[in-house]
Amino acid sequence: MQNPTEQAEAVKFTGPGNLPAAYKYLLIRMLSIQSRIESEYMLMPERTLLKPLALAPTPEDKAEYAAFWSDEVRHASYWMHLLGDLGVSVDDAFMATPMPIYIFEMRDQAQDWIEYGLFSFFADRQGAYMGYEWVGCSYQPLAKIAERVYREELGHAAFGYRLMRRHLEREGERGRALLIKHLAKWYPAGLDMFGKSGSKRQFDYVRMGLRRRSNEQMRAEFEAEVNNLLTKLEIPIPDPTAGRLYL
Ligand SMILES: [Fe+2]
Ligand SMILES: [Fe+2]
Repeated sequence: MQNPTEQAEAVKFTGPGNLPAAYKYLLIRMLSIQSRIESEYMLMPERTLLKPLALAPTPEDKAEYAAFWSDEVRHASYWMHLLGDLGVSVDDAFMATPMPIYIFEMRDQAQDWIEYGLFSFFADRQGAYMGYEWVGCSYQPLAKIAERVYREELGHAAFGYRLMRRHLEREGERGRALLIKHLAKWYPAGLDMFGKSGSKRQFDYVRMGLRRRSNEQMRAEFEAEVNNLLTKLEIPIPDPTAGRLYL
């Protein structure tokens, strides 16, 4: 099921017309998750722009956050456009549906600036992992923008890392203790972003050429990358099973 050649053999679709029903269902489902998450940047700026800008401690942090937010507003426009072509509108009812991945709600509960760093370090990195899945995927309108989204999400994850590093430089031991305290909550949420290892739907996505890797493969690669970066910051790696909701 996880054989990458299966994706290479998958049929490519050039647009929204005449899609097989099962394919269209999964495509809409996948784009809806992305759109529900990212449309908040465009539609709820009081939470996604104004609050973090007020918390950002330096002009440099504020400027980098604003640039990041602006990318996300554009990403939101991509998903709205793709979904609109498939007959789904990102309206109030759409945005009233529950957040599909819980880490994205944690951003809005952030108590301090370092939590925004942790958010981007984990959640935007997951965005990069998903963007990478869509490079060369079977739905060409999505494949067309995937490379750019992938690169920008990598940039956002790097922003998260920089923010954490600057916080450690600025705040010393006290800052380190705070980061470790927050990590106990963000690390399990980060690993949980990839869903349950045994879920059936992930393999339907792979079979239809909408993804390449399984949840477990993505999580393992993510965990190794994140652990490596935390080690560079001399932050101890949390227990990967503690506090987890999805294993
Ligand atoms: Fe994004
Ligand atoms: Fe992002």
